[in-house]
Order: sequence, then C-alpha cells, then structure tokens
Amino acid sequence: MDREFLERWKAFEEECKACSRCPLRASASKTVIYRGCKKAPLMIIGEGPGNVEDKTGIPFVGPSGYLLQNALTAWGFKDRDFHICNIVKCHPPENRRPEPSEISQCKRLLATQFRLVEPRVILLCGSTAYEAFYGERPVMRDVRGRFDEKKGYYIMTTYHPAALLRNDRLKIPMFEDLGKVRAKLSELALMEPLSPLHHS
Ligand code: URA
Repeated sequence: MDREFLERWKAFEEECKACSRCPLRASASKTVIYRGCKKAPLMIIGEGPGNVEDKTGIPFVGPSGYLLQNALTAWGFKDRDFHICNIVKCHPPENRRPEPSEISQCKRLLATQFRLVEPRVILLCGSTAYEAFYGERPVMRDVRGRFDEKKGYYIMTTYHPAALLRNDRLKIPMFEDLGKVRAKLSELALMEPLSPLHHS
C-alpha cells in the first residue's frame, strides 16, 4: 500500500468519524469502519455494528462475528484476503435495523470505501445488505448462494451470521456459500488454490 493510498484512507476514516449526517452517530460510542485488510479481493458487508462492535469500534467481533470468523478460518481465509464492514457505520440503538434514511446517508461513505478497497468479490450478509444493494427486500432462501456478475464484480448474498445464532439449520448453507466465494477467489487467482482438504 503506497503513501498516497494510505493518505486517502486516512482522509476517509476521518470523514467517517466526523460524520453526523444521521441520528445514529449521537447514540453510538464508536464509528465502526472495517476489519481485515484495507485493500482486499473480498468485501464482506453486514448490516450495522452490534453492542460489542460499538464498544470496540471493530465490525463482527461479537457472537455473530465469532461464527463468521470460524467459517472464514475454516476456508483458509487470512486477514489479508478480506475487508469486513457494514451498511451503516454506527450502532443502531437496541440493535434495530437501520432506517432507509440512515442507510442512504451512510451509502456515500460505503461507496468511497468500495473504491479504496477495490474488491472483486462482494459477500452481502443478510437482507438489509441485500436491500441496500438491490433496492428490494429479498426472500433469503431464493437469493442466497449464487453469484450475480456485474461489471466484472461477483456479488453473492448469504444469511447474516446473526440468523445462524437463531437457527442452526442455516449454518451449513452459509458455510457452503462462503466455500463458493473461496473457490471464486481461487478461480480469479486472487487467493491460492483450495487445498485438497477443502475438496473432501
Ligand atoms: N452484525 C452486523 O451486521 N455487523 C456487525 O458488525 C456485527 C453484527
């Protein structure tokens, strides 16, 4: 990562921290921007920071983050391979869904983030991320697990890890979806080939 990029990144983080365009900022403790690598072939997008994320300022480090991280590790992802973030950067009170107006205010920042990270594969976790991207509420079992190819980007939707905490039966499909993402990254030569262990 060169100096110019790091300066652009710093300016972006400062813009995020200074943002007060929606009411979420007033009740949140921290602005939650990303974890993983600033530049990565895979961008994973969740809904919004939960309680633990609000305290730490790091996305997906609470109970649902634990599940997500386990699946990532099992498929051989390292921190350098992904950039994890959310549709909104501030914790919605009582873990409610972010409002459409909050999402639309935060989208500007997500667009800048996307241009900086330059992912080729995007994993949308849950219906809020899907809706923010496609503009319609999905039936998750119908939209998950397949790639939508757009302008050289590969977009996959899967269940939100928090849904797996409520319903064990979603764990296998989510794990399989992440496997398809892993295979796509190998196919694009953006990650090393899958080891034989992963094919068995
Ligand atoms: N849920 C999300 O959508 N994002 C997080 O960062 C944590 C929980």
